[in-house]
Amino acid sequence: MSPDTHDKHAWADLTKAVKDPLSALRYPALATIGKDARPKVRTVVLRDVLSDARRLEFHTDVRSEKWSDLARSPDAHIHVYCPERRLQLRFDGTCVCHGPDSQAARAAWAALPDHTRTTYKGGPPGIDLAQDASAPAGSGPNPSVFGVIQFHARHLDWVQLDRTTNLRAKFEYGPDGRLTNSRWVIP
Ligand SMILES: Cc1cc2nc3c(=O)[nH]c(=O)nc-3n(C[C@H](O)[C@H](O)[C@H](O)COP(=O)(O)O)c2cc1C
Repeated sequence: MSPDTHDKHAWADLTKAVKDPLSALRYPALATIGKDARPKVRTVVLRDVLSDARRLEFHTDVRSEKWSDLARSPDAHIHVYCPERRLQLRFDGTCVCHGPDSQAARAAWAALPDHTRTTYKGGPPGIDLAQDASAPAGSGPNPSVFGVIQFHARHLDWVQLDRTTNLRAKFEYGPDGRLTNSRWVIP
């Protein structure tokens, strides 16, 4: 059997997860290369999926470490795990970052609900709370720190562990997102 059906389902499930706060697939781990050349990983919310282009989208504060990591090196890795299906998806790819003045960031900001916008206020992520003098009471969400990360997948390593069958497949995508290679491998 060709593994391509699993690739198709994986992207369909990710697309559905964008709108499902209870789906584990909505909370991938995004790994980047830190300025000390060591791996850095953190949870992000999956905000959009363009399955034909194999593109995943995330939002972040442009003062965060991940943003500067990606400015130095756009290479990134995404890990998602779905406990119900015992399914692991690992994507290798590169990111394109759209800063606050970009059309992508402006459109994404305009579509954000108010409670999500409030995430983008105050000082830079990671500074001591005691030092954060930049958010006096009453100061609101700040679109000038809001950025969009678009991750373009080049490889997917798909693994499902079942009581009776363990399956693993590898998929490769071209620059336009088209599936160019797929094969079963030993889990
Ligand atoms: C459930 C959950 C969802 C998160 N979603 C995001 C997100 O969408 N974007 C983001 O920048 N940080 C998000 N974070 C915070 C990051 O995991 C991380 O702590 C923060 O962005 C700083 O990371 P950095 O210093 O490596 O850039 C989330 C954390 C949790 C626990």
